[in-house]
Amino acid sequence: MFAIIGGSGMAQLPCLEITRRQIIRTPYGEPSGPLTFGTIRNHEIVFLPRHGHGHTIPPHQINYRANLWVLHSLKPEHVIAVAAVGGIRADLTPGKLVLPDQIIDYTHSRAFTYYDDATQPFTHIDFTHPYCQATREALLKAAHKADESIIDGGVYAATQGPRLETAAEINRLEGDGAHMVGMTGMPEAALARELGLNYAPIAIVANSAAGRGSNVDAIPLKEVYAVLDQSMARVRNILEHLVDCDDD
Ligand code: HPA
Repeated sequence: MFAIIGGSGMAQLPCLEITRRQIIRTPYGEPSGPLTFGTIRNHEIVFLPRHGHGHTIPPHQINYRANLWVLHSLKPEHVIAVAAVGGIRADLTPGKLVLPDQIIDYTHSRAFTYYDDATQPFTHIDFTHPYCQATREALLKAAHKADESIIDGGVYAATQGPRLETAAEINRLEGDGAHMVGMTGMPEAALARELGLNYAPIAIVANSAAGRGSNVDAIPLKEVYAVLDQSMARVRNILEHLVDCDDD
């Protein structure tokens, strides 16, 4: 089984032949919504839209611990996290697809670890390479088979949101080495690693980041949603080929 976490612009997965929906509670509370189980080309999929089915949960209020916990309980082979980002690097223009390979965490005030219980032993996790390389390679192969171009590698800056950044903040992130910016990459990736999940994101550049490209004065939000709408078909194409690659 593959797990897919849908991001902004992906509250549903139309290519999924749905078999059932199920509400599963966790020791960490409620996930973003019921899980949708189904198949893509006969391959079992579980789908969870991160922001809820009606896109009602902002990035800082997502129960990341419950989301990852519930997916982990299903023992998926891979967890694919679909995420919208703003492009900082000049070539990351709206509509581009990217497989990030690193992340910098600027979020705060989020429940970011399962090691919160002082009565239980804790362990540190290695996070040198935050994403599962096997999952990244499966996505790369799928993109190749699907004939969709995708940029291999890039540093994702995870900001707190829900507001977008100032131009000066984007300059600072670039100075830190970030290539794209999003609001949901953390603590999701670290929690996935704590649970030992094979987790990797696929990022869609929804807009040029604040102050970049044509967004010198403002980020036109209407256009952002239009770009996401157009790009989701390409992401779905990759996901469909991902399940095919699994049979190779
Ligand atoms: N900043 C942060 N998160 C985002 C952006 C952005 O410009 N675009 C899409 N998600």
